[in-house]
Amino acid sequence: MQNLADKLNSEVFKTIAHVAREINQKTFVIGGFVRDLLLERPSKDVDFVVLGSGIVFAKKVASAFGSNTHAKYFKNFGTALVRYNEWDLEFVGARKESYRKNSRKPIVEDGSLSDDQRRRDFTINALSISLQAKDFGQLFDPFNGLEDIKNKLIRTPLDPDITFSDDPLRMMRAIRFATQLGFSIELNTYKAISRNKNRIQIVSRERVLDELNKIILAPKPSLGFKILDETGLLKIIFPKFVELKGVEKVGKQAHKDNFYHTLQVLDNLAEKTDSLYLRWAAILHDIAKPVTKRFEQGIGWTFHAHEFIGAKMVPGVFKSLKLPMNEKMRYVQKLVLLHLRPIVLAQEIITDSALRRLLFEAGDDIDYLMLLCEADITSKNDVKVRQYLKNFETVREKLKEVEEKDRLRNWQPPISGEMIMETFGLKPSKKVGVIKTTIREAILDGIIKNDFDEAYAFMIEEGKKQGLKPIKKPKKPDTRKS
Ligand code: CTP
Repeated sequence: MQNLADKLNSEVFKTIAHVAREINQKTFVIGGFVRDLLLERPSKDVDFVVLGSGIVFAKKVASAFGSNTHAKYFKNFGTALVRYNEWDLEFVGARKESYRKNSRKPIVEDGSLSDDQRRRDFTINALSISLQAKDFGQLFDPFNGLEDIKNKLIRTPLDPDITFSDDPLRMMRAIRFATQLGFSIELNTYKAISRNKNRIQIVSRERVLDELNKIILAPKPSLGFKILDETGLLKIIFPKFVELKGVEKVGKQAHKDNFYHTLQVLDNLAEKTDSLYLRWAAILHDIAKPVTKRFEQGIGWTFHAHEFIGAKMVPGVFKSLKLPMNEKMRYVQKLVLLHLRPIVLAQEIITDSALRRLLFEAGDDIDYLMLLCEADITSKNDVKVRQYLKNFETVREKLKEVEEKDRLRNWQPPISGEMIMETFGLKPSKKVGVIKTTIREAILDGIIKNDFDEAYAFMIEEGKKQGLKPIKKPKKPDTRKS
């Protein structure tokens, strides 16, 4: 049997082993930390199982560490969390759990180490290491987890129907671990996911989202989405996404499968960014394609306005998945709305006014938008891809030039609504809005410069056209940087 003593020779494990000896309570490291230790993925998040009370044990550990220790005790769950320096150490008494059919609340009893290992989700997460003096570092592996790590397999320790019935979220966890680690799901375990998929509905949407987000943040998220789809889970947890699937044909004209295209975009983007919400923008960028799809004679398949309609659909998707309805959602909406703009620019002759508009609308998110658009090129034709990327490079350079010249990111036009009201003695009204928009458009179109004096003169002219006379000149804003 393998001994991992050399891997646990830090002060933390020595102290905990010392406490265990002192109070004569058997203690083991268990779960994800052991898995990651064997996979050489360093972690400071450790679960311990003790034969006896986890809380009593954790109290002793906290006092043995002394300073830099922060402990929390959860009496209802019989668990304790001890934070020591950068370590997160969780203690729980070994337990035996049994579940009833329609409840997620298990009947919990004290148990042995092997009872505790049996209630775990996967063989690779059921591995444990002894901290006892006589066999310190000894690996306890009743379900051949080590073998499964070597063979890159996710497998439940018990009959998968039992393990998944105990906690149906484990079906998502299986797919999440497979995606994060690049493992396969063992066939029986896989089949059980398909069989038990409907049970996912008894799990809270927050927990499901947590796992989904971990899949999205994996190096190649498409792996997870494909398993979610094949097992039927995706249709239950995120049906709108599945609607992207399929190819329709009229004569010889077919459109691409937008589900696989979207997954490719997501993978492309995952190579460039770890940002969760930028990855969500990739997932949702074409979400309105199914509802906007038309076949037009002489043109072919079209998805007119899918970016506008897609942006409108974002809040509904966020709400149904329990994603946050805040500025993160607005950010995703904005990227969905603008996702075609750089592509259009890259295809046409680039005018300064089109660039200014894009900068104005995208603001600080312009760089993320460019990343999304580059990821959106999924043509199989290499020549085409190279040409697009080259055009994007030109768009990026031109954006930089215009930005340096006109400073349009987070831009506010030099004449505000208040200034218009002050100049013409107006109350808040439609007229004020019309003048304000006309000034902004004139700047974006390059008719006048982005400067107070030109904008002021232009406003007076516009006012005249509407029969307005200036009664007061507003103070020129101080634009010096502080
Ligand atoms: N566990 C389980 N069933 C669950 C959740 C957790 O059996 N639904 C067990 C597993 O043994 C797991 C351990 O509790 O290894 C710790 O869970 P968690 O911290 O959620 O996962 P980790 O395996 O540590 O992985 P990660 O930190 O990547 O989430």
